[in-house]
Amino acid sequence: MKALVLSGGAGTRLRPFSHSTPKQLIPVANRPVLEHVLDNIRALGIEDIGIVVGDRADVIADAIGDGARFNARITYLRQDRPLGLAHCVRIARGFLGDDDFVMYLGDNLLPDGVVDIADAFRASRPAAHVVVHKVPDPRAFGVAELDAHGRILQLVEKPQEPRSDLALIGVYFFTRAVHEAVAAIAPSARGELEITDAIQWLLANGRAVTASEYDGYWRDTGRIEDVLACNAHLLGGLRSHVAGEVDAASRVGAGVVIGSGARVVRSRIEGPAIIGPDTLVEDSHVGPNTAVGRGCVLRASRIADSIVLDGAAIDAVPGLSHSLIGKSATVTARSARPEPDTGLRLVLGDHSSVEIAA
Ligand code: TTP
Repeated sequence: MKALVLSGGAGTRLRPFSHSTPKQLIPVANRPVLEHVLDNIRALGIEDIGIVVGDRADVIADAIGDGARFNARITYLRQDRPLGLAHCVRIARGFLGDDDFVMYLGDNLLPDGVVDIADAFRASRPAAHVVVHKVPDPRAFGVAELDAHGRILQLVEKPQEPRSDLALIGVYFFTRAVHEAVAAIAPSARGELEITDAIQWLLANGRAVTASEYDGYWRDTGRIEDVLACNAHLLGGLRSHVAGEVDAASRVGAGVVIGSGARVVRSRIEGPAIIGPDTLVEDSHVGPNTAVGRGCVLRASRIADSIVLDGAAIDAVPGLSHSLIGKSATVTARSARPEPDTGLRLVLGDHSSVEIAA
């Protein structure tokens, strides 16, 4: 079995942040989303992985490499324009050959893994086996109606009146039967080749389409709120570990990881939180639910529920929360006025620079 990971796309919901860092490379608990995805695929015993990339191909290939780090072989497949998930299957035909494969959206996190679901697919090899998840409001998703044996009766895209609460999430298993389906469908009203249309085509042509329910934690990291929630969830699973230096005037709570070469001076780190290697935290209060990358400098600041990417600097900012600060961005305060109680929220791309009244 092979894997096809989709890491192209426009990432419009994460603009302007996604102009500098493609969303699949945003670190969650200090590891890019895509690395979490690749770990999950490796757990299925798959070694041959194709990654569909768009115009950010170089950045993604530089960050992820040829797969050696994951004991896998990675092939990058260039998609000229984001023409839909089924279009990705079309352009990957040469890589996939006639093999079974898992298609995995490169911005989806399923930290509880899909090993059992892959086993269910391997046992019966239906044309398509989809992963469904109970969601509170299915109207924004492809919704599956199942019979008692897990066979899909009907698939409806974004129904106004959903007949079940089972949404299709970002993992699909296919046999080669899907190639006929993706060749047969036409673009949807939004101009994309939709994978739900391809699956619907399989159903209409009498092929077996089944589903497994994933009941673990799931997030599509398409929006800032989801990236931050996912970060908090994964940080919650960390075990405390201090490799760097913490001075006697600092307090470090439970569930905190401090990387090697990091220094914590006269500060409080409230778990769950992670401080990356070679980062300096001085006279600050960091956490909970906060991941700070490598080589950052935080001085006289207060930050919670946030992600700070490598090389960023935050100086004298007393109330940051729910923020995403890009690589090497700087946030500094200009004067000594008190912050409003609500705090500040910033979504800053790489190398941006912000001065705030503080
Ligand atoms: P989406 O989140 O559906 O699309 P998007 O990345 O364009 O984001 P937005 O809606 O904010 O503009 O895509 C799901 C995943 O599939 C994501 O990792 C990007 C990838 N993808 C491709 O690789 N090629 C495509 O043609 C599309 C539509 C998505």
